[in-house]
Amino acid sequence: MKKRWAARKHFDRIAKKYDYYRTIDKEPIDFLTETVRGTEQSICDLGSGSGRYLISLIKACQSSAVLVKEAYGIDINPNMLETAEKKMEGLMPSINWVIASADNTGLPAQSISLVTAFNSIHYLPILGTLDEVGRILIADGYFAIYCRVLDQESKHIWGRWFPGYLDYSQVKTREFMTNFDSYNQSFQLIHVQDFTFERKTTLAWICEQTENKYYSTLDRYTLKEFNKAYSEFLDNIRANHTDLDDITYYSSYSLFLYRLSSIKRVKLTDNSLQSD
Ligand SMILES: C[S@@+](CC[C@H](N)C(=O)[O-])C[C@H]1O[C@@H](n2cnc3c(N)ncnc32)[C@H](O)[C@@H]1O
Repeated sequence: MKKRWAARKHFDRIAKKYDYYRTIDKEPIDFLTETVRGTEQSICDLGSGSGRYLISLIKACQSSAVLVKEAYGIDINPNMLETAEKKMEGLMPSINWVIASADNTGLPAQSISLVTAFNSIHYLPILGTLDEVGRILIADGYFAIYCRVLDQESKHIWGRWFPGYLDYSQVKTREFMTNFDSYNQSFQLIHVQDFTFERKTTLAWICEQTENKYYSTLDRYTLKEFNKAYSEFLDNIRANHTDLDDITYYSSYSLFLYRLSSIKRVKLTDNSLQSD
């Protein structure tokens, strides 16, 4: 509950500036529109935030002649959804922005063909969310999760150079993401696609992002810890980059694509094969 409240405060604070500080990646959207089968989709995006990925996904579907019958952006934070709502003028179909938690969307059972979660999975109550996704997806429906996993976080510029960052980060491990079936046997992992982006930036921009704590991980430090870590972070950046107006770093993510499967898996136990 404490964690949830801290996340709520963080997104309240950055809701209006969210898109300004964040980079949107087109590649996972293109990958999804090419990989997910079907000429029509009903889409539900969990932790949709300012809506930037959901809106891009709908536009990409439309450019690929995929009919989006309905679309829902689910988020627990009304300020983030308010930002989203302002952006969607003229978009067909209009998106239903729903203030709800991902584990209790209120959507009808078996009504959605594609559930997505971009950069949000580590905020969501995972077991309840998996049950809820299993409930709202149609048979053979898709669940696509785009996120950074821990090994990628450790190589990202903050994970690498900002002391304590990995201790405060809540991102999932790759192992967790590839073993959903041990939590909920309804899901079958059908594809993992890794993406690495080259980012060009300046020290001034990194400072602005850091001081505004645009990653919630930075908001979890006490003020004293943050000030100390920030000063070491700046030393690390200066020591490892010669041109502070032209810094290159790499940012990696993975897209995990699951499919709802009605087939129960067979689990190997000590001395027998048992269906569970
Ligand atoms: C890092 S943002 C990602 C937003 C968006 N998907 C994007 O990539 O631009 C995470 C979002 O998850 C939302 N969130 C946190 N807990 C949630 C929950 N239990 N149910 C639904 N949304 C939640 C936050 O309010 C926030 O908008």
